Amino acid sequence: MSVIALPVIALPDHGTTDTDGDVPRAPPCTLVIFGASGDLTKRLLMPALYNLAEAGHLSDDVRIIGVDHNENTDEGWRRDLSDALQESTKDPDAEFHPARIDQAPWAFVRDRLRYHTGDFEAAATYRALREALTGSAIFYLAVSARFFGPVVERLGEAGLLEEGEGRFRRVVVEKPFGEDLASAQALNASLLKQADEAQIFRIDHFLGKETVQSLLALRFANRLLEPVWNAGHVEFVEITAAETIGVGTRGAFYEPTGALRDMVPNHLFQLLCMVAIEPPASLDAEAVRDAKAALIGAIRPVEPGDAVRGQYRAGTEDGAGVSSYRDEADVGPQSRTETYAALKLTIGTSRWDGVPFYLRTGKRLSGRRTEIAIHFRAPAHDLFAAVGGGEANVMRLRIDPEHGLATTLSVKRPGPGMRLGPVVTGFSYGDFFTEAAAVGYETLLFDCMTGDSTLFQRADMIEGAWAVVDPLIRAWKDAPVDEYPAGTDGPAAADAMLAREGRAWTPLSDA
Ligand code: BG6
Repeated sequence: MSVIALPVIALPDHGTTDTDGDVPRAPPCTLVIFGASGDLTKRLLMPALYNLAEAGHLSDDVRIIGVDHNENTDEGWRRDLSDALQESTKDPDAEFHPARIDQAPWAFVRDRLRYHTGDFEAAATYRALREALTGSAIFYLAVSARFFGPVVERLGEAGLLEEGEGRFRRVVVEKPFGEDLASAQALNASLLKQADEAQIFRIDHFLGKETVQSLLALRFANRLLEPVWNAGHVEFVEITAAETIGVGTRGAFYEPTGALRDMVPNHLFQLLCMVAIEPPASLDAEAVRDAKAALIGAIRPVEPGDAVRGQYRAGTEDGAGVSSYRDEADVGPQSRTETYAALKLTIGTSRWDGVPFYLRTGKRLSGRRTEIAIHFRAPAHDLFAAVGGGEANVMRLRIDPEHGLATTLSVKRPGPGMRLGPVVTGFSYGDFFTEAAAVGYETLLFDCMTGDSTLFQRADMIEGAWAVVDPLIRAWKDAPVDEYPAGTDGPAAADAMLAREGRAWTPLSDA
């Protein structure tokens, strides 16, 4: 394998965020992307860098080095990425789908790209990086999870994680972070051997979503909500991340992973944290992460009887026939991997005593919807019982694809007599703020450059979440899986699980 000599990049060292007028600017650093030719780099990281450049958030001295196994050149890599960005303008289903790519911000990023052909496990790769890097650097692991430990170990051995003389060295680790509690603990231990916790940025891209970050503001910046945000007023909470897409080309990753590991202890738990944490003492990264860790620590381990899993069979999606999970590429014909998971969680805090949190996620469902629905209790004195009563208030915090909030209230129906009818009140972010096409990684990359860990997972949060779902992972290991036709709301057993408690899931297709 040829090793292309990397240019020496000497950067001035600034530890803090600079500003240009009102626009905060990240300090100079080199972003080293392991997995430069991969999907994540094309679909998410480059659009995020482009958006950051367009908004003026990047330092002029930022540099980007891509590392991957395949032979390529600086120019070749730049061309590949330019093509991928241009393609995204034509693909309405792409995470990043701008009307056009502006030349100036893309040229800013493009000119700073360097490519290095290198094996992730070869010492030569790290020697080359050592020669190329003198200032601050972020090592972004956009690689398969099996490389997380080995890459960080080699970075450490090569002295690339040593900070000092005003320079920072940080590592960004993608998900999946482990596959159960034991493997997550082992991975944390191996990373923490090479770097301090403050140097490790464990990504959960749900936290980069504006609508998720805004949940903290919604809850704690509005006097109206906090007094009713507890077991005295909330009957139950539903957290949904439903997708209409199947596993597509990701069968090889998904087969050993499944919906539970892919979505629950990470993305859904982050939503749960935002909606259920106690108010942190401040907006400091550690205060916010302490509040989340405390919440996760208070969730009781899942009882396998309080969970359902399912796998999609052939069905229809948007009127077109789609195949069964077992017929997808790289999926076994007898696969028992779940593509749907639903579970009930309870939280041992006085705020949430006795309030069930129902979580569900799945692929090939009837609607695409990520949202949290807070179901409030009926009024203490039901004055309207004699005239048929009203519907309980439900506040839906909409994260994707709509961004906003919708709350049902009961009002008097016009006309003689007193009869109640439901109305919906709420807002869409787009009606109040200009929403730019973003992929969620903009905030996360910028925060990593400025050293703000608030939106990243700490070791204790990750391990706490795995501890909650570990009983389920064990129980499901050799268990059969329920079925559901593609394009429906999931397996019947999930409906039965809520029906046993006199409740029902919000239908997915009436969005
Ligand atoms: C990823 C999962 O982390 O999140 C995917 O691996 C899933 O399976 C995706 O489709 C969902 O994210 P979003 O932002 O599209 O809701």
